[in-house]
Amino acid sequence: MKIAILPGDGIGPEIVAEAVKVLRALALPLEMETAPVGGAAYEAAGHPLPDATLALAQQADAVLFGAVGDWKYDTLPRPLRPEQAILGLRKQLGLFANFRPALCYEQLTHASSLKPELVAGLDILIIRELTGDIYFGQPRGRRAAPDGPFAGAEEAFDTMRYSRPEIERIARVAFEAARQRNRKVTSVDKANVLETFQLWKDVVTEVHRDYPDVELDHMYVDNAAMQLVKAPKKFDVIVTGNMFGDILSDEAAMLTGSIGMLPSASLNERGQGLYEPSHGSAPDIAGKGVANPLATILSAAMMLRYSLKQPEAADRIEAAVQRVLAQGLRTADIASPGCTVVGTAQMGDAVVRALG
Ligand code: IPM
Ligand code: MN
Repeated sequence: MKIAILPGDGIGPEIVAEAVKVLRALALPLEMETAPVGGAAYEAAGHPLPDATLALAQQADAVLFGAVGDWKYDTLPRPLRPEQAILGLRKQLGLFANFRPALCYEQLTHASSLKPELVAGLDILIIRELTGDIYFGQPRGRRAAPDGPFAGAEEAFDTMRYSRPEIERIARVAFEAARQRNRKVTSVDKANVLETFQLWKDVVTEVHRDYPDVELDHMYVDNAAMQLVKAPKKFDVIVTGNMFGDILSDEAAMLTGSIGMLPSASLNERGQGLYEPSHGSAPDIAGKGVANPLATILSAAMMLRYSLKQPEAADRIEAAVQRVLAQGLRTADIASPGCTVVGTAQMGDAVVRALG
């Protein structure tokens, strides 16, 4: 089993190193090869997603990705910015289905910004479409406004687009996932305003006919943002487009106490996947050895489960993380009174020990 390791920028290298430590401790036949990505690759090779890095990712059974981005690259032309690396990987590998679970660990109930009773036992799964929508829609660009009250002034435009097959396949992913859980899907749209999301709603409704055992409801994105902080436990699976999913998954992550705990998986039609923490590169704490590696370690567990078909190994990692939390070990982002605050590497070592 071949894994491409792409640490990236900011805290990426530190947290990925801990996940690699945990993977090695499993003593599985894993072949790991590392390549630069993001700002690190721009520095080394002049491009955030060098051909060699893309080729390595394409040949691998799975990709373990850290994070990309740093404010210092904000002035680069867009095609050279670190974010283009992750967007390029998603598009080139066809990683259309993004799983972002938001799970509130019992020990972290009090780390949430919401009242403990609202989040205790929270277990929701956001399924974000990842290769379409306004993120990739053409045309986009800048021009002189051709009409309207500001005709002639500089304007910028992006295009929100979804095709029927794109919506169908992500809807199927969501209904199938719901069958493994509590059989409830909430499709989030903005059909009251946007034609793109009227099609979304229509197609999700049609696909639902094949899944009569799963409950489906539709919610406008503004209401969904509100319901997530009002009564998050009412959700099971949320399926939505690329941009709404980006926003709602950060919101859902914070319900669980820390975005530093949340893994993610991005899959294509062949089951090949890219696994990354849901958080970013956090340049403000990079190199300090304080970042929480658990989201990346849990992403490695998702990789073992979804792409490498090693469910027992995935269970072992997840159980080890539970044990470490039960022992009272915490990185700074999830620290609470009475717990022991540890650094990134200490946390990784503790997970390795807890593998048993
Ligand atoms: C994410 C990130 C990315 C996104 C950025 C870094 C391009 O915010 O994975 O959620 O917007 O998809
Ligand atoms: Mn995001």
